[in-house]
Amino acid sequence: MHITAAGIEGARKWDAMVYREHQQTDRFRDPPPDADPWTGLAWNFSPPDRDEKDLDPAVNVVETYLDPGDTVIDVGAGGGRLAIPLARRCARVVAVEPSPAMRARMDAAISELGVDNVEVVPERWQDADVPVGDHVICSHVMYATTPVLPFLEKLHDHANKRVTVMLRERPPQANFHELFERLFGEERIALPAMPEFRNLLESVGIKYDLHRLEDRPHGMFPNPEAALRRSIQRLFLNPGSASAKRLAEILPECLVPDGEGVRFSWAEPQRGWLVSWSTE
Ligand SMILES: C[S@@+](CC[C@H](N)C(=O)[O-])C[C@H]1O[C@@H](n2cnc3c(N)ncnc32)[C@H](O)[C@@H]1O
Repeated sequence: MHITAAGIEGARKWDAMVYREHQQTDRFRDPPPDADPWTGLAWNFSPPDRDEKDLDPAVNVVETYLDPGDTVIDVGAGGGRLAIPLARRCARVVAVEPSPAMRARMDAAISELGVDNVEVVPERWQDADVPVGDHVICSHVMYATTPVLPFLEKLHDHANKRVTVMLRERPPQANFHELFERLFGEERIALPAMPEFRNLLESVGIKYDLHRLEDRPHGMFPNPEAALRRSIQRLFLNPGSASAKRLAEILPECLVPDGEGVRFSWAEPQRGWLVSWSTE
């Protein structure tokens, strides 16, 4: 990757968005609990069963770029949602994942599904000392990544052949922005997402293929209690705090029935995107 002044400016804009969002979060959040933030959520990032009926559509796109002898590095592999199906389609997957809760889910899935070609690396990507692979993927990890340029350069430099990044059109918290505004009376500052990532790639001179993935319904909950639990988490509150109590009061007027459960009245489906570029 050749970094020019335009690339540094592109990365500065990205980092500034993350910084502003974090500053606002810190002004309103409850004291952070001393726990892995993915505890209780890791199950959502499980791989599909052997029959793969819930396969993430990104796997089918990544597959078109893979040779059977390739090594894939999955950065922020979560519970193995992509790492494990990809392991069936290439020689080896190196799954870099810092969260103990996510790794526990991935380890359990590896045993249940009898997969023997996934190596789990318990580190953040910035700290991971892993050999170069053929294809590096990074799915729904980068929204809060800062400083973004060294992270992106490391993705690029660790791929002999190709890098693929998945992000949504809007950050995963987007359907909670309106709730934040109703609770705290201030417009929510957004994290960067795919439009900003494409600008970043263009600023560093990377030419990429772009694939639209399926929409993912978002903001749907099995019941109002689940909506409250998730909202408390997404707004970085602690159950029982003053803000969490106020949230519980305003939440019912924000929810409408949806199928078997509920959703925010303003909820929109989440548009998914995949970008991929050659490093050869
Ligand atoms: C939303 S989950 C996505 C998991 C998986 N990639 C997927 O698409 O199912 C984001 C994951 O990125 C991991 N993560 C966050 N920051 C990271 C970093 N700096 N390096 C590596 N992984 C990171 C988190 O621990 C979490 O497992």
